[in-house]
Amino acid sequence: MALSVGSKKIKTAVFISGTGSNLKSLIKFSKLKKSPISINLIVSNNPKSKGLKYGKRFKIKSKFFNYKKKSIAEKKIILELKKNKINFICLAGFMKILSKNFIKSFKGKILNIHPSLLPRFKGLNTHERVIKNNETYSGCTVHFVNSKLDSGKIILQKKVKINKNDTPRTLSKKILIQEHKLYPKAILKIFNL
Ligand code: GRF
Repeated sequence: MALSVGSKKIKTAVFISGTGSNLKSLIKFSKLKKSPISINLIVSNNPKSKGLKYGKRFKIKSKFFNYKKKSIAEKKIILELKKNKINFICLAGFMKILSKNFIKSFKGKILNIHPSLLPRFKGLNTHERVIKNNETYSGCTVHFVNSKLDSGKIILQKKVKINKNDTPRTLSKKILIQEHKLYPKAILKIFNL
């Protein structure tokens, strides 16, 4: 991979659309000495993302991009990434699909977290579908992003047991706790740390 860890941390952008709990855990991780990344930009397609508050709290530049026209939004995002010398992207609950060209221009440098044991249950409403299917386990996956949704190379996964009385909500809570640990671990893993 064209990523290297020198004495400086790799400038990273986190893309969000909602609550931003993974963003928060990534920010905390990035501040540790052992972290190969620093978080220098937060990108949101939603001006009301709760996660934007972490930008303020941790003094990280945060930007909203209007996605009415995806091609324009992506052009603006790429300009902003360049301006801030961003070299690594973590998608964390980002609800927009990046174009093939965007992904190409950051090949091997975009990660995503998905709340299922991929390749099972790609896409939206994961927990609802998992529970309807009477699964006994679900979990979360950190993977590289390629041009197919939730299909890039898997970096790490964590299994989570489903109880009989779990609802999509309780399952989502349980899995989120694991997500917050898994994302930093996956980052350490790809940098061989
Ligand atoms: C997480 O479950 C993540 O796996 C999925 O979207 C959710 C985002 O949660 N892609 P948060 O905004 O990080 O709290």
